[in-house]
Amino acid sequence: MHCREIPLTVWVLMFISTSEETCTSRLHITAVEGEPFYLKYCSSSPEHGKKTTTIKWYKNESHGPVDLSLRSSPRILLRDYVLEFWPVELSDSGSYSFQMGNDTHDWKLNVIPRSPHSCFTEKLVMSKAVEVKKSLQIPCEHNYYQQLANRTVLYKNCEKMENNQNPFLKNAEFKDQGYYTCVFFLHHNGKLFNVTKTFNITIVGDHSNIIPALLGPKIEEVKVELGKDIQLNCSALLNEKDIIYWNTWRKNGKDPNVHEGEVTRIRTSEGKWLASTILRIENVNTRNLNFSYNCTAVNEGGIDTKSFLLLLKEDMVDIPGHVFTRGMIVAVVISVVVVCLVTMGVIYRVDLVLFYRHFMGRDETLTDGKTYDAFVSYLKECQPEHGEEHAFAVETLPRVLEKHFGYKLCIFERDVVPGGAVVDEIHSLIEKSRRLIIVLSKSYMSSEVRYELESGLHEALVERKIKIILIEFTPVGDFRFLPQSLKLLKSHRVLKWKADKSLSYNSRFWKNLLYLMPAKAVKPCRDESEASPVLLKS
Ligand SMILES: *[C@@H]1O[C@H](CO)[C@@H](O)[C@H](O)[C@H]1NC(C)=O
Ligand SMILES: *[C@@H]1O[C@H](CO)[C@@H](O)[C@H](O)[C@H]1NC(C)=O
Ligand SMILES: *[C@@H]1O[C@H](CO)[C@@H](O)[C@H](O)[C@H]1NC(C)=O
Ligand SMILES: *[C@@H]1O[C@H](CO)[C@@H](O)[C@H](O)[C@H]1NC(C)=O
Ligand SMILES: *[C@@H]1O[C@H](CO)[C@@H](O)[C@H](O)[C@H]1NC(C)=O
Repeated sequence: MHCREIPLTVWVLMFISTSEETCTSRLHITAVEGEPFYLKYCSSSPEHGKKTTTIKWYKNESHGPVDLSLRSSPRILLRDYVLEFWPVELSDSGSYSFQMGNDTHDWKLNVIPRSPHSCFTEKLVMSKAVEVKKSLQIPCEHNYYQQLANRTVLYKNCEKMENNQNPFLKNAEFKDQGYYTCVFFLHHNGKLFNVTKTFNITIVGDHSNIIPALLGPKIEEVKVELGKDIQLNCSALLNEKDIIYWNTWRKNGKDPNVHEGEVTRIRTSEGKWLASTILRIENVNTRNLNFSYNCTAVNEGGIDTKSFLLLLKEDMVDIPGHVFTRGMIVAVVISVVVVCLVTMGVIYRVDLVLFYRHFMGRDETLTDGKTYDAFVSYLKECQPEHGEEHAFAVETLPRVLEKHFGYKLCIFERDVVPGGAVVDEIHSLIEKSRRLIIVLSKSYMSSEVRYELESGLHEALVERKIKIILIEFTPVGDFRFLPQSLKLLKSHRVLKWKADKSLSYNSRFWKNLLYLMPAKAVKPCRDESEASPVLLKS
């Protein structure tokens, strides 16, 4: 690091000693209008030793040399070896001579106009190239005016720099490139003047060359869909002059849908270049598949190549798609099946329970010590207008439930021995029964029946030994005449008899009735009149 800084230091020293020497040895001098300026004779011997001889300054006009000491101008000062201008003006251009005894010196002064748009004059810039990451130093020093300078301000591209350190020093970056102008403010005779000094700083990359390197894998597989456009981006890190290109030629020429883009280059902070070139393939077809689109970066030192292979995207997208679709279908099917099963279960709950009972041979009547499966309560006044419900209770119910399904019913007219205490008898019969079937009609509530009903309700609701089944034989509509407690029955325990639909053994009515009856395994011998328990129509 130290070794590298030495040349820079040497440069700075040389810079100062050549162009900013306090004396002016060059023949052709350029100055900027409006700035303080001076010419100084370069004495070969120490200044004080020669003071005795007279010193003359001349300006060579067309009609001959003019002694400047004879011209009275407050702008132009003669100070022995030095001729000062406060400030120099366009009219000062010309040839000047210094004479001291036998020693003479000439200069050709060219005063150029100040640039109206810029803080510096392009002709007077000092150019310098600085390698990136090396030390960049802007020395705002003026060997002649330094003592007089009241203030020094540094401008970059004519904008005042925030960081006004002097000397300006940092590690060079590419963004540091530009014009650095030092402005020295001087006071002279109560007036403010300024002198500028501008450096044209160019930041250059380090001179070592790299071997070009393409970015990414050597073989890059690109998933494409047929008919779509695709862009292949080939990028390389390389030197400024290195080449990057596509190789897309086939034996029989180039694909018409393949287009090479321009090469774009961006300089990296290390001074190398990031070059990119795009290969555009429009409307990808099967010819573009499984072909190597090669990209190459090359210089004298080396070569790097990379292949792009186009592959169909199908495998990548469709498999998850299939899985997803299948998963959705399976989920939907399962949901539908579950919903169907639940719905079926609700609708065919009765059938399922009956099937289950039948299949398992379930029997809940064996151990409860009861005699009857059901006590049938019905209107016993056998008047012609109640004929149908009487016949239903006394004939239809026993025929179906007893003969066909093997239940044992207790029907007052048939099973109660005449005489004796009817009320006690009914009570004990209800106690011996597993269900109380009430055949309900508008004229049901007679005194006898009321007792049965109340006795049954007591058993059912208080003792919970019997379950009630209500059969609405004729539409009742208004249940207000029933005891309050009967309304607590669950609605499915109320069966509606529909003369036209309920005839068949397989009708919903009988299934629901069987469902409400206790499970019983015993099956009777099938009776002959299997077809339907038709009511006796009178
Ligand atoms: C330097 O002086 C000139 C006139 O001599 C003036 O136009 C210019 O603005 C001054 N520059 C600065 C930075 O003040
Ligand atoms: C500044 O330096 C750059 C690079 O060397 C050069 O191209 C440019 O012409 C210079 N500008 C002036 C005003 O001399
Ligand atoms: C700069 O100038 C101001 C007045 O113009 C003065 O007060 C000050 O002392 C000067 N500074 C220097 C360093 O000469
Ligand atoms: C190509 O890739 C390079 C490096 O990754 C990137 O800088 C450039 O912007 C890309 N070009 C396009 C057009 O995407
Ligand atoms: C691209 O490179 C591969 C491997 O280096 C080579 O097999 C193929 O022929 C090249 N293709 C073209 C078009 O040059």
